Amino acid sequence: MTILDGKKVSNDIKDEIAAEVSKMKANGEKVPHLAAVIVGDDGASLTYVGSKVRACERVGFESTMVRLPNTTSEVELLDKIEELNTNDDIDGFIIQLPLPDQIDTQKVLMAVDPSKDVDGFHPENFGKMALDMTTFIPATPFGILELLERYKVDTKGKHTVVIGRSHIVGRPMSILMSRKGWPGNSTVTLTHSNTKNIAQITTQADIVISALGVPNFLKAEMVRDDAVIIDVGITRVVDKSHPKGYVITGDVDFENVSKKASFITPVPGGVGPMTIAMLLKNTLLAREQRRN
Ligand code: GUN
Repeated sequence: MTILDGKKVSNDIKDEIAAEVSKMKANGEKVPHLAAVIVGDDGASLTYVGSKVRACERVGFESTMVRLPNTTSEVELLDKIEELNTNDDIDGFIIQLPLPDQIDTQKVLMAVDPSKDVDGFHPENFGKMALDMTTFIPATPFGILELLERYKVDTKGKHTVVIGRSHIVGRPMSILMSRKGWPGNSTVTLTHSNTKNIAQITTQADIVISALGVPNFLKAEMVRDDAVIIDVGITRVVDKSHPKGYVITGDVDFENVSKKASFITPVPGGVGPMTIAMLLKNTLLAREQRRN
């Protein structure tokens, strides 16, 4: 069994990006600049955005965090997006999700200039991804592809079962794993909350990618021997014995599933750090595209 060490791989990627930034600086070029917009004060969202900003510092990017109150109206957020779209100094930006109820998420994501949409959430970029055109691939699925590639995991002709159909992870992942090329060329089954007999499907899988958000959902009896297991779950589970009062828990019963798996991602230290590294990679791409 091999642990897919997202922490290590993401550090390698950050080193590679930092080397690119050093070259840009040496040539007197502008370095990439990422902005992150966060509406409200959700603890988990603040933690994620904080990690994204710190990652920018680590690789030598410029970063701007835009904090808006929970009461922000849709119009106010759209105005801020327009400002970022037209600010020539910003190469890419993200709107941290989820957004408060008074704001229509789809409308907001459609307002982002596709050339600055480093999350890959705009319909134009999502459509390009589905059509195998060059574009920003959403960071979490992109990170999973990168992990599979760097560990040389064979995906061709394999049966990949994706659990969860979110626009951020499950749906794009299912498209990417079925694409021509590697990692890809899989036969994909996309399962979700209305799927019947899910264990019957997951036990047929060569590769399981779980993005459900239900702690310890995937048990050992739900996977076959030598399966590749990718755990995208990052649920905060209350644990008073922990200094933070919670522990980050994945979708996979790691202790038991890891005994059967050929490759498996841990939580934390698997997919999570890859997401941030790939957001940086998309921001670097955005800068390069604007330069050319
Ligand atoms: N919320 C959960 N995951 C993500 C992500 O990848 N990007 C943004 N913007 N919000 C998220």
